[in-house]
This record gives sequence, structure tokens and C-alpha cells, in this order.
Amino acid sequence: MKIHLLFIVSLSLLLSLPSPSLSAERCNPHDKKVLLRIKADLGNPYHLASWNPNTDCCDWYVVECSSTTNRIISLTVFQANISGQIPPAVGNLPYLEELEFHHITNLTGQIPSAIAKLKNLKELRLSFTNLSGPVPSFLSQLKNLTLLELNYNQLTGTIPPSIAKLTNLLAVHLDRNQLTGEIPVEFGKFTGSTPDLHLSHNQLTGSVPKSLGSLNFTTLDFSRNKLEGDISFLFGTNKTIQIVDFSRNLFEFDLSKVKFPASLTSLDLNHNKIFGNLPASLTSLNFQYLNVSYNRLCGQIPQGGKLQTFDIYSYFHNKCLCGSPLPACK
Ligand SMILES: *[C@@H]1O[C@H](CO)[C@@H](O)[C@H](O)[C@H]1NC(C)=O
Ligand SMILES: *[C@@H]1O[C@H](CO)[C@@H](O)[C@H](O)[C@H]1NC(C)=O
Ligand SMILES: *[C@@H]1O[C@H](CO)[C@@H](O)[C@H](O)[C@H]1NC(C)=O
Ligand SMILES: *[C@@H]1O[C@H](CO)[C@@H](O)[C@H](O)[C@H]1NC(C)=O
Ligand SMILES: *[C@@H]1O[C@H](CO)[C@@H](O)[C@H](O)[C@H]1NC(C)=O
Ligand SMILES: *[C@@H]1O[C@H](CO)[C@@H](O)[C@H](O)[C@H]1NC(C)=O
Ligand SMILES: *[C@@H]1O[C@H](CO)[C@@H](O)[C@H](O)[C@H]1NC(C)=O
Repeated sequence: MKIHLLFIVSLSLLLSLPSPSLSAERCNPHDKKVLLRIKADLGNPYHLASWNPNTDCCDWYVVECSSTTNRIISLTVFQANISGQIPPAVGNLPYLEELEFHHITNLTGQIPSAIAKLKNLKELRLSFTNLSGPVPSFLSQLKNLTLLELNYNQLTGTIPPSIAKLTNLLAVHLDRNQLTGEIPVEFGKFTGSTPDLHLSHNQLTGSVPKSLGSLNFTTLDFSRNKLEGDISFLFGTNKTIQIVDFSRNLFEFDLSKVKFPASLTSLDLNHNKIFGNLPASLTSLNFQYLNVSYNRLCGQIPQGGKLQTFDIYSYFHNKCLCGSPLPACK
């Protein structure tokens, strides 16, 4: 009886004690050192309190270790009270596939060039922060990048054409910055995948390069810039575009001549200088959203399809557009 009790006590002690000697630390010592450097450079924020040098870094908050190599493959800092700049030390995590600093008001400074060292990076998300300076052209060295998300920052300067060298890109989000200049002509020469382009809420000027007409984009959002000219070449019956937002620019072309692809589900052209009338072919499209308000359109709104499922606010403030849902033509 006595022996039996002793056995149970010692067994339960053995099971409840943390036993570092039994399971070796997974964390790569180099990566641990780099992460502690990053923590110090960010001013030892509360957000990274779990980054304790005495514990396995594979168990730390906002990082992830590869299950095969045990190297750090992901660093995703989200909604943190952190003040300062992105530490260049992030460039010393060579296995990193995902790097994110998101929703951090007091994150300032430029995008550090050390990021160019992260050859395995697939997703770079530096958004809803207060980063300034340019969209760096060294990003074109990150050949494995599938997602480039730099939106909601204070970035200035022009869009580097070299981004078009990234053959695996699925989406480029440069919206909500202060970017100037033209959309690079190279953006019509993406080889490999054709990424969704989100360039809205900047100060882009000039006309959209004709080269973009040779690619099959799925989503194009150029809204709230100062772009001008004709963009009808982005449509056409053999295109596969689905979502288009060209609103609040200076686009000027004859809508009656445009051939819309059957794939189109969302079309926002509001606040431009588009003229002509709405082509009858619009009635054959399966629109979920349509807005042609605040243009210079004229004539009867074609009756049928989805066109009467939208209210007057999709059509109002044109030169002389008429018919349901607007008042009848005279
Ligand atoms: C940003 O920094 C200011 C000044 O240092 C501080 O008062 C504020 O709490 C910080 N805000 C956030 C969300 O980090
Ligand atoms: C952010 O951290 C600073 C310094 O630690 C602190 O003074 C401030 O109150 C924090 N702000 C928020 C919004 O938590
Ligand atoms: C950038 O900083 C300004 C001023 O501190 C702040 O009002 C704004 O919310 C910040 N932007 C973001 C995206 O956090
Ligand atoms: C991209 O990633 C693959 C593995 O996913 C890797 O073999 C390759 O070296 C990477 N590309 C570059 C340019 O490093
Ligand atoms: C669309 O089809 C026409 C006629 O087949 C062809 O000349 C044109 O190059 C095609 N355009 C695209 C972008 O595929
Ligand atoms: C775009 O898609 C259409 C329809 O799938 C196809 O016929 C055309 O060749 C494609 N064009 C390009 C440039 O990939
Ligand atoms: C279309 O755009 C105008 C102008 O921005 C806006 O007032 C209206 O609400 C929009 N219509 C719809 C259906 O969103």
C-alpha cells in the first residue's frame, strides 16, 4: 500500500513537471537571436512579452516555425501598440515566407532594404501603418512573392515598373497611399500569373497604358486617382475581367462602343467624363454591382437583365440618361 502510494505520487510529479531535458528546444538558435534583436529594436513592446529567451521561440506569439526545418517561416505582427521602425533585422530570418506588420499606427519610417534578402518570402503585408518613403524597386528581387500588400500607408513617389518582373504575383495592393506618376507600361507585361491590381486612392496621373489591354485581369481598382483618357481597351468580349472600379477619375470615352465581357459582375464608373449611351448588351450581363452615375451619358437605359434591379443612384447625375429606374424619356 505504502509503495503503491509512493509510486502514484512520483508518477504524477513526473508528468506534471515541465521537462526541458526530455524534449529539446525546436527553435533555431540563430533565429532566436534575430527575433530577440527585433524585439529590442521595437522597444520591447508588451505585444511581444511571450518572446522570453528562456523558452522555445517556436512557442512564441506571432511567429511560426516550419514543421520540417524548425526555422522561422512567419512573422505576423497585427494590431499592436508598437512605436518605431521596421527593424532591418527582419532580413536575417532567411526562411521567412510571410512577413506582416498590420494595423500599427505608430510604425513609421521606410520599408527597409534588408527585406530584399528574404528570398523565400511569399506574402509581404505592411498595411494600415504610417510607413513613408517609396515603394522600393528592390521588391522585384523577391521572386516568390504572391502577395504584395502595402496599402493604407503614407508611401510617396512612383510605382516601380520592376514589380512586373514578379511572375508569381496574385495581388498587388498599393491603394490608399500618396503615389504619383503613371501606371507603369510594364504592368501590361506580367508573365506568369496576372495579378489583381488595387491602386485606388492615390494621385496617379496620365492615361492607363494600352499594354494592360493584352492581359486577362480579374480585378482592377484604379478608383480615386487623376487618371484620364480612354480605357475601353480593358474591356472586349474575349476578356475575363470580373470586378472593375474606375470611379472618381477623369476618364473620357464613348461607352456606346464598348463591348463588355460576359465575366463582368461589378462595374463602377461613377464620377468620370464618360459619354455616349448605355449599350443594349449590358442587359445580358449578370451584374451584382453597377454604377455609372456622375458622367455625361445620354439616352434610354436599356430595359432588362439586371439593369432595373439597381436604383436611381446607380444612374443619376448624367447628361440626359432616362428611363427606368430614372424618369421616363421625353
Ligand atoms: C502612438 O504613440 C503616441 C506617442 O508616443 C502614444 O501616445 C500612443 O498611445 C501610441 N498609439 C498607439 C496606438 O500605439
Ligand atoms: C501604447 O504604449 C505606450 C508606451 O508603452 C503607452 O504609454 C500607451 O498608453 C499605449 N497606448 C495604447 C493605446 O495602448
Ligand atoms: C498615422 O498617424 C496618424 C497621426 O498619428 C493617425 O491619425 C493615423 O491613424 C495613422 N494611420 C494609420 C493607418 O494608422
Ligand atoms: C522560391 O521558393 C522555392 C520553394 O518554395 C525555393 O526552392 C526557391 O529557391 C525560391 N525562389 C527563390 C528565388 O529563392
Ligand atoms: C480577342 O479576340 C480577337 C479576335 O479573335 C483577337 O484579335 C484579339 O487579339 C483578342 N484579344 C485578346 C486580348 O485576347
Ligand atoms: C484571355 O481569356 C480569353 C478567354 O478565356 C482567351 O481566349 C484569351 O486568349 C486570353 N488572353 C490572354 C492574353 O491570356
Ligand atoms: C454610385 O455612386 C454615387 C457617387 O459616388 C453614389 O452617390 C451612389 O450611392 C452610388 N450608388 C450605389 C448603388 O452604390
